[in-house]
Amino acid sequence: MSSRPEGCALVTGASRGIGAAIATTLAVDDGWTVGVNFRSDEAGAQRVVEGIEEAGGRAAPVAGDVAQRGSDEKVLAELEERFGPVLVLVNNAGMRADGLTVQLDDDAWDQVLATNLSAAFRLTRRAVRTMVRARFGRIVNVASVVGPKANAGQANYAASKAGLIGFTRTVAVEVARRGVTVNAVAPGLIETDLTEGLGPELLDAVPARRAGTPEDVAACVRFLISDHASYVTGTTLTVDGGLSA
Ligand SMILES: NC(=O)c1ccc[n+]([C@@H]2O[C@H](COP(=O)([O-])OP(=O)(O)OC[C@H]3O[C@@H](n4cnc5c(N)ncnc54)[C@H](OP(=O)(O)O)[C@@H]3O)[C@@H](O)[C@H]2O)c1
Repeated sequence: MSSRPEGCALVTGASRGIGAAIATTLAVDDGWTVGVNFRSDEAGAQRVVEGIEEAGGRAAPVAGDVAQRGSDEKVLAELEERFGPVLVLVNNAGMRADGLTVQLDDDAWDQVLATNLSAAFRLTRRAVRTMVRARFGRIVNVASVVGPKANAGQANYAASKAGLIGFTRTVAVEVARRGVTVNAVAPGLIETDLTEGLGPELLDAVPARRAGTPEDVAACVRFLISDHASYVTGTTLTVDGGLSA
C-alpha cells in the first residue's frame, strides 16, 4: 500500500524530450496529478497534457521560465492552488550552449548555470518546506554523465551538472529525517532535440550500442519517486547504456 499523502507533482521543462516522458509516466502509471512546465513551447506542453488525459491521467500545463528569479514562487503557487501541495519535484529543465572554454562568453555561462543549476536550487528551496511539513517528498534532479566525466566544449554544462549532483547530495542529508528524498539521475546520450545533430560516432562509445530514449530515463525517475525507493536518498542513478562504466 502506498504511504503517499494527497498532493501533486511538478516536472520542469516537460513540453518535450525527457521531461515529457517523466510527466507522462508519473501521471499515467503512478496516478500523480502533474504540472507540465514549459518556457516557450506551449503547444508542446498542451500535447503532453492531452496525451496524459487520453490515457486516463490528470495534468495541466504550467508556464514559467525557471531560469528567472521569482518563477519558483509563481509556478509552485499556481500548482498548489489548483491541485494541493507539490510533493514531487523533478528539476529537468535544461539547456546547453557549447563552446571551448576560451570561446565561451558570459551569456553562455550565465544562461546555462541559471537554467540547469540555479533554477533547481530555487524550486527546491521553495518546495522542500511543503514536503517537510507533509513528512513526505520526492525531489529528482536531472543531471548528466557530463560533469562527473569531462566532455570538451561543455565546461558550462559540466559545471552546472556537477554542481547539481553536489547540491542533490547536500539537500538529501539536510532533509532525510523528514521523509523527503533527494536524488539525481545522470543520463548519457539520449535521443531528444538537445542531442539532435550530434555525430553518430558518439554512439560507438556506448557499450549498449544505442542511444537511450526519454522513456529509459523516465523509468529511473519513476523508481526514485516510488515507494520502492523510500530508503534511497543522496544518490545519482546513471542511465547511459554503460557509457561511463
Ligand atoms: N538528451 C540528452 O542526451 C541528455 C543527456 C544528459 C542530460 N540531459 C538533461 O535532461 C534534461 C532534459 O533534456 P532533453 O534532452 O529532454 O532536452 P530538450 O529536448 O531540449 O527539452 C528541454 C526542455 O526544457 C525546457 N526548458 C529549457 N529551458 C527552460 C527554462 N528556462 N524554463 C522552463 N523550461 C525550460 C524546454 O521548454 P521549452 O521548449 O518550452 O523552451 C524543453 O521542454 C536537461 O536537463 C538535460 O541537460 C539530457
